[in-house]
Amino acid sequence: MSTMLEVSGLGHRYGGPTGHQAINELSFRVEAGELACIVGPSGCGKSTLLRSISGLLTPTSGRVELHGDPVEGVPSDLAVVFQDYSRSLFPWLSVRKNVEFPLRSRGIGRDERRRRSDEVLEWVGLAESARKYPWQLSGGMQQRVSIARALACRPALLLMDEPFASVDAQTRFELEDLLLRVRKQFDSTVLLVTHDIDESIYLADRVFVLSKSPASIVADIPVDLGERDQIVTRESEEFVHLRSEVARLLQVRSAEPKRSAEAERWAEAERAEARESAQP
Ligand SMILES: Nc1ncnc2c1ncn2[C@@H]1O[C@H](COP(=O)(O)OP(=O)(O)OP(=O)(O)O)[C@@H](O)[C@H]1O
Ligand SMILES: [Mg+2]
Repeated sequence: MSTMLEVSGLGHRYGGPTGHQAINELSFRVEAGELACIVGPSGCGKSTLLRSISGLLTPTSGRVELHGDPVEGVPSDLAVVFQDYSRSLFPWLSVRKNVEFPLRSRGIGRDERRRRSDEVLEWVGLAESARKYPWQLSGGMQQRVSIARALACRPALLLMDEPFASVDAQTRFELEDLLLRVRKQFDSTVLLVTHDIDESIYLADRVFVLSKSPASIVADIPVDLGERDQIVTRESEEFVHLRSEVARLLQVRSAEPKRSAEAERWAEAERAEARESAQP
């Protein structure tokens, strides 16, 4: 197996040297063809991590490599499905045009764009809705369009930021299974961020557990559950065991005494002042 993504010592601080440290010293690897999930508490820095990997944000420390090449700017063979689907689609473009939009900016001709949009819309069950507009669709359908748009680019790496967080439970199950199917079909490498422990275990070949802010990796857990089924898998002994393991890791980290972010920023500002006044 070759390495698709290597993240080494990644850190990001918003707002300069005395600002907020969102992620800290993150290192992990995703192999080609793997579906890896990152699970972490709300606000711990998950979106910051994905933005740094996708080149949308320049991290303040560390390195990101996509099949061996450093990521500088947004790589063309990477696609992102964002947390907030309602803001990620263009309301003035039809479903088909939304899907084809990034293909056009990649210089792909009309016939090939059409072929690809037909293919992915069929895959996500939206062939009938190609001429509709996003605002004419339900939340779950809109998120399907986002997934189709990402897949149409045939990305080497698909990044997904809590892609199913804002849909109802039944739609969430359907979208999870859809992801597993298309992932097989397109042989994709996927890195998906979620705060839902069950979802991370259901989907992943590997789960990375993040600490509270500033996020760092506290565990790397391989998951071997074979073919998934929403009822049978979730009831299996192995699933229940893994769920407790991840829950315990998240709980232990949350229970550790921790200064508030505000107190942390204050202490950092004081240290910076002390360093400045110590200079001759
Ligand atoms: N542009 C920004 N400027 C300053 N601070 C930011 C910015 N974006 C995020 N942060 C802070 O960085 C921390 C991590 O934010 P981030 O959005 O990465 O967390 P998250 O784990 O994705 O949260 P959620 O679970 O709500 O999606 C938060 O404390 C947030 O307030
Ligand atoms: Mg987020």
